[in-house]
Amino acid sequence: MTGPDAGLSNGPMPKPLLSVLKGALPAVPPMWLMRQAGRYLPEYRALRAEKGGFLELVYDSAAAAEVTLQPLRRFGFDGAILFSDILIVPYAMGQDLWFEAGEGPRLAPILAETDLSTLKPDFSRYEAVYETVRQVKAALDPQVTFLGFAGSPWTIATYMVAGQGSKDQGAARRMAYRQPDKFGAIIDAIIDATVVYLCGQIEAGVEAVQLFDSWAGSLAPLEFERWVIRPNRRIVEKLKAIHPDIPVIGFPKGAGAKLADYAVGTGVDAVGVDETVDPHWANRVLPQGLPVQGNLDPLALIAGGRAVEEAVDNIRAAFAGRPHIFNLGHGILPDTPIDHVEALLSYVRAAGD
Ligand code: CP3
Repeated sequence: MTGPDAGLSNGPMPKPLLSVLKGALPAVPPMWLMRQAGRYLPEYRALRAEKGGFLELVYDSAAAAEVTLQPLRRFGFDGAILFSDILIVPYAMGQDLWFEAGEGPRLAPILAETDLSTLKPDFSRYEAVYETVRQVKAALDPQVTFLGFAGSPWTIATYMVAGQGSKDQGAARRMAYRQPDKFGAIIDAIIDATVVYLCGQIEAGVEAVQLFDSWAGSLAPLEFERWVIRPNRRIVEKLKAIHPDIPVIGFPKGAGAKLADYAVGTGVDAVGVDETVDPHWANRVLPQGLPVQGNLDPLALIAGGRAVEEAVDNIRAAFAGRPHIFNLGHGILPDTPIDHVEALLSYVRAAGD
């Protein structure tokens, strides 16, 4: 990266993505893609088949480090995201976790009558992930920013209560209204387990962290304040007390009109914007100078060609005056053609000239 605005961090070779998280305005936005380590890559599918299962892959640190690095080798992104899953936190909180082939994650659900003291935390279940971080860190190009992550408490709780993904997150929303004390205790336990996990990732070598709130969009306004904004703020405060220089990206998918309240209320250092949000509107309502990340529609990337170029131009124009990390508005989909990812990178990087 070159130019007078290249970065604010110390040293002669600032990392583009980390610099933008700290307020730099480079000519070309740094770029990574949510879920960039995963099933759209043939080399991921091959390793996944060899290891037999998703959790087997996560718990084999050498293999998980390899999966983290695969998209870097192929595309040269500016960020590497740790290969793991948000559901490692409930697993370390003592909930059984498994992946049903062809379906998705399953946890033993927390029912109205479940006694929470039956959950016995075992934070040694984080150790293999920290080892993955150390192995990636040792192999990573020094220009690449290494991102850790966790799910946000609300999103994690939706899985813990329902025991699986659901369309409307109804089980958790019901419990939040009917048994707010019990639900609050689950959220508090997730906050503590998440801070331990993120501190462990930071101490092992990640340089910024992202909080994924994939289901932030399902809550009514008062519930959003209570279960999205406040718990994320507590995580940010606790992390900042220990690691004040590590940027936190908050990604409240589906927050819509509540995006600015989220950004201000949580105190995150950067906000991820999903593809349904008009980037010009986001730029108007977000605090001046707050870095943003996003927000190409993953389906536009599947289509490729003009659809992508038009959307990229619109996003870049909207965020031209603000620190911007180019990303999708949500995770890359498994049927995304590899050459469309290559074309996207070339287009974003060329358009900065
Ligand atoms: O971004 C990355 O490349 C890093 C790794 C990563 C994974 N999951 C790997 C994964 C990250 C950051 C996640 C986050 C995650 N996991 C979220 C939040 C982001 C989002 O997309 O909304 C959520 C809700 C989960 C929970 C989860 N994990 C589900 C619902 C599933 C099954 C369906 C799906 O989307 O794949 C997973 C499995 C999973 N996590 C896979 C990968 C690569 C696929 C596993 C396989 O090989 O079959």
